[in-house]
Amino acid sequence: MRASARLFARLSRMSHTKNAPARIDTLTVHGGTPLEGAITVRGAKNLVSKAMVAALLGESASRLRGVPEIADVRIVSGLLELHGVEVTAGDEDGELVLDPTNAEKAHVADIDAHAGSSRIPILLCGPLLHRLGEAFIPDLGGCRIGERPINYHLDVLRQFGAVVEKRPEGLRITAPAGLRGTKIDLPYPSVGSTEQVLLTAVRAEGLTELRGAAIEPEIMDLIAVLQKMGAIISVDTDRVIRIEGVSRLEGYTHRAMNDRIEAASWGCAALATQGDVVVRGARQPEMMTFLNVFRKIGGAFEVDDEGIRFWRGGEAQRSLVLETDVHPGFMTDWQQPLVVALTQTSGLSIIHETVYENRLGFTGALNDMGATIQLYRECLGGLPCRFGQRNFMHSAVVPGPTKLHGAEITVPDLRGGFSYLIAALAAEGESTVHGVDLIYRGYEQFQDKLEALGARYEHR
Ligand code: EPU
Repeated sequence: MRASARLFARLSRMSHTKNAPARIDTLTVHGGTPLEGAITVRGAKNLVSKAMVAALLGESASRLRGVPEIADVRIVSGLLELHGVEVTAGDEDGELVLDPTNAEKAHVADIDAHAGSSRIPILLCGPLLHRLGEAFIPDLGGCRIGERPINYHLDVLRQFGAVVEKRPEGLRITAPAGLRGTKIDLPYPSVGSTEQVLLTAVRAEGLTELRGAAIEPEIMDLIAVLQKMGAIISVDTDRVIRIEGVSRLEGYTHRAMNDRIEAASWGCAALATQGDVVVRGARQPEMMTFLNVFRKIGGAFEVDDEGIRFWRGGEAQRSLVLETDVHPGFMTDWQQPLVVALTQTSGLSIIHETVYENRLGFTGALNDMGATIQLYRECLGGLPCRFGQRNFMHSAVVPGPTKLHGAEITVPDLRGGFSYLIAALAAEGESTVHGVDLIYRGYEQFQDKLEALGARYEHR
């Protein structure tokens, strides 16, 4: 058995409750019980997967700590193994050792088997070009929350000197004259494209200047990883990042920053179910924007060295106007769990989703459960965004509180899926939630955590 297969067989056994079968797709959730207790969050999905890719750039093995048991980690491990990277479990719980010393070209058919499973393959381009002179990228997956094109990624790679060839099976990318540092100005501070630049520029020849960069905390943590490996990267004011290419990088040892999306999701669950949840590992600095909003809508929280305790506090303000945005704005990934909480707090809220054009579709099922959310094409409540006048239902009016009742619902995407679980837990009566496997992509041991918080559910 391959190393990561062994590792993940173990992770998979650990990630289910003891009486549960290995794959559980449908849960019957009995609503109306407040979630109470303490749970722990570990490494951020949106850093861990990128740090795993960065290991491919090193000449020696890397150790990544705090790795959560989520499906995305399994997917990236599989991709790295196809390219000869040895992925094994380290000594401490949640530690991965990634050894790229025998990196090799993968077979197109093997890579193609990963088509549609994740968006991470596109980030392998820079490291693979440096290491092997060639990259092959299958059709990408990820949540269906918008078109999610990769035009910025390909433009950036071309600017470094890469040649992109479209083939029926996917994209073949080469760099016949090597990769050279360049000046890049991103049209939008895209997280993935900023990571693409970082992972390519660190070993490109000469200086790269990136303007319009995303500066999410997960990106800062990736920069910390790359610096440990020997990279020279400065983050300047006004979204400018400068990278001086070096000819060699070594492996790193790094503890991943904790998952601020998962932490906020549990906070919203506490508020929506009128519960009281301690999220160990939640950190205030990366969650300040969320915490401000949480307080405004009637949530209370307490921060200590261990994490953050969330519960329902005083009165909500009468209305909230909120726009999702790139960091330091309110994260788009916090929006879906927040909307469920808003249906249970008092006041009329307006949400303007400006990062993804199609991230409010999940509200249809909430309306089937008794919510009265209305969607609009217009940019409501804030400045006009890229999606205005373009037929995208990207603004929502959310009245609260509305009584939710149980329903039969199907998980639409990762964050929407967890939000449906919150809604089912807050609702009166029984809900049937199909497709919960998807939630394992980003929420570690969520069923064990639900049990620890006193949720009542069973597998169908
Ligand atoms: N965009 C383009 N062209 C591109 C790349 C992006 O038009 O080539 C657009 C996207 O369509 C979107 C916007 O730019 O409208 C922002 O996309 P971004 O590149 O920032 O997103 P991403 O890197 O694909 C990551 C996270 C998402 C998170 C966003 C925003 C990972 C694996 N995914 O996606 O996380 O919502 O940044 O913070 O890091 C999730 O965890 O559930 C999730 C969707």
